[in-house]
Amino acid sequence: MKTIAVIFGSRSTEHDVSIITAISSIIKPLELSGQYQVEPVYIAKDGSWYWDQKLKEISLYQGDELEEFLRKAPKVHLLFDNGLTLVKSSQFAGRKAYKKIDVVFPATHGTHGEDGELMGLLEMAGVPYVGCGVAASAIAMDKVLSKLIAEAHGIPTPKMQFILTSELERNSGPFIEKGVNAKLKYPLFVKPAHLGSSIGITKVDDPKDLVNALEIAMHYDTKILVEEGVQNLIEVTVPIIGNRELKPALVERPLSKEDGVFDFDTKYMNNGKGGKKMGGGKQGAQGYSEVPAKLPPELYKKAEDTALAVYKALGCEGIARVDLLIDSKTGTVYFNEVNPLPGSLYAHNWRAAGMSPVELVNTLVRLAEERFAAQARTAKTFQTNFLKQF
Ligand SMILES: Nc1ncnc2c1ncn2[C@@H]1O[C@H](COP(=O)(O)OP(=O)(O)O)[C@@H](O)[C@H]1O
Ligand SMILES: [Mg+2]
Repeated sequence: MKTIAVIFGSRSTEHDVSIITAISSIIKPLELSGQYQVEPVYIAKDGSWYWDQKLKEISLYQGDELEEFLRKAPKVHLLFDNGLTLVKSSQFAGRKAYKKIDVVFPATHGTHGEDGELMGLLEMAGVPYVGCGVAASAIAMDKVLSKLIAEAHGIPTPKMQFILTSELERNSGPFIEKGVNAKLKYPLFVKPAHLGSSIGITKVDDPKDLVNALEIAMHYDTKILVEEGVQNLIEVTVPIIGNRELKPALVERPLSKEDGVFDFDTKYMNNGKGGKKMGGGKQGAQGYSEVPAKLPPELYKKAEDTALAVYKALGCEGIARVDLLIDSKTGTVYFNEVNPLPGSLYAHNWRAAGMSPVELVNTLVRLAEERFAAQARTAKTFQTNFLKQF
């Protein structure tokens, strides 16, 4: 049996969502497949790491039990031994429990986890892990960088201007006048570059509201972007898996949007109740959605192709979900953003596309091992006489 460490939680606004992704969409199907010993590794909100079979139980996180548990539980040590071994004090005084990990399945969303930081740690350890690598994860979690890369590959994305918060604080005039107002058409969207769940995002219809929107975004991030709003909007999302050979799931259209912008509650809290139930709708991570999206076949294909082009351009591997904004009048498909670890892995969509949750996690583990093997084949050492000269 292979030993898989599922790492979740972490210092992120999406900490709680990560617990659900880990337990329901990753640990459960991994165990159902009967091929793996699953070791849950939980990163608490303060950044402390824990490893314990009890951390697999959702009830632990639902009451006051967690605090008590974490107070008593030993923290985990990571041993980099040409791979990764988990170490913790055992119940026998002075003895330690060890577990060598074959594959890591990161289940962290947002900062300190989905953004390449955890992937860097796993690269350093030399252990195979599921999903996008360091660079693709970091780029995907930066709305400015991901748009610049998409643009460089000729993929349409809403016109934007961006600026560092520190520069904006020093002298906002030129950015607002020569950047935003001279180059972009209202309505605009002002966004922090690194956050998700619509936190800090404002739609601006009138130039007089721009400064206020910038101030909101500045509160949350060190980098800010302002982009043109897409008119006649249809939003879709396309989950994709693969390293070199890519497989898209179905193009999905979330339907719970009511006020023009998805907020955290619409996305995660309504449990489908806030969203309108429409014919053919499925309850997914974002309330109800249309799977597959009812788009004219040509537009559907264009959305799928655009998503695949973005996945490749950013160098995604394993899994990612590409969000698109469609102008339904002009038929232009714009790239919006990439999620390197889609909440719940978008299992509902994969199921509709014919792939069960067990098949999905099995495939992702295989892809992790394949990438690791391919990397191992590239030369890492280089013989020189350099040291002998001293
Ligand atoms: N350029 C745009 N045109 C129209 N709507 C947009 C645009 N940018 C964002 N939105 C709306 O705001 C929502 C949140 O923006 P997004 O960039 O996806 O941030 P988040 O990372 O918080 O999901 C989108 O789902 C969409 O409804
Ligand atoms: Mg979004």
